[in-house]
Amino acid sequence: MKITWLGHSAIKIEGSKIVFIDPFLSGNPVASVKPEEIDKADIVVVTHYHGDHLGDAFSICKKTGATLVSIHEVAVEAEKEGIKAEGMNIGGTVEVDGVKIHMVIAWHSAEKGNATGVVVEMDGKKIYHAGDTGLTYDMKLIGEFFEPDLSLLPIGDRYTMGIPSAVKAVELIKSKVVIPIHYNTFPIIQTNPEEFKTRVGDMANVVILKPGESYTI
Ligand code: NI
Ligand code: MN
Repeated sequence: MKITWLGHSAIKIEGSKIVFIDPFLSGNPVASVKPEEIDKADIVVVTHYHGDHLGDAFSICKKTGATLVSIHEVAVEAEKEGIKAEGMNIGGTVEVDGVKIHMVIAWHSAEKGNATGVVVEMDGKKIYHAGDTGLTYDMKLIGEFFEPDLSLLPIGDRYTMGIPSAVKAVELIKSKVVIPIHYNTFPIIQTNPEEFKTRVGDMANVVILKPGESYTI
């Protein structure tokens, strides 16, 4: 399964299905693809209703026929635009085309509904995308219960965890592979991912990607 960082919190997962998470591409200065270049998608997951996460989700769904998966209030908005959507909420699991999406807590705000994190389960692998969140002991439970093979964690500070709290999050989640996200998109969330990697040390394999680069699990 191939995981590509498209910049900011935008992720493309390619396995038996193509899944996008938080495809903020238009207006994203570091995005590695333009939304009009995306012509195949099965599922688009939106962690919360903020512009830098909702991004181009609706237009990608309209163009590709992908199913939008998000918290109830965001799914209702998508359905108003004629998009096939699966609404859900924290604690629930939805299965679309054999891919399971588990919705988990995230400590953050949202313009509609709540902010969430997700665990995407496909082809026997589990990927935890923390969305925008502060550090919380819930991450220990997420780690114990889902045992994610890979975790995508925000490290850019100000709106989410910064490096010190994200290092603690790695300790709580205990996933073997961690990819930092939500940093260096804009000057206000500038940080050094190498410092994060150094401070995580041997707790996990921190994979630093450039926008457009992939990691295979
Ligand atoms: Ni946000
Ligand atoms: Mn954000």
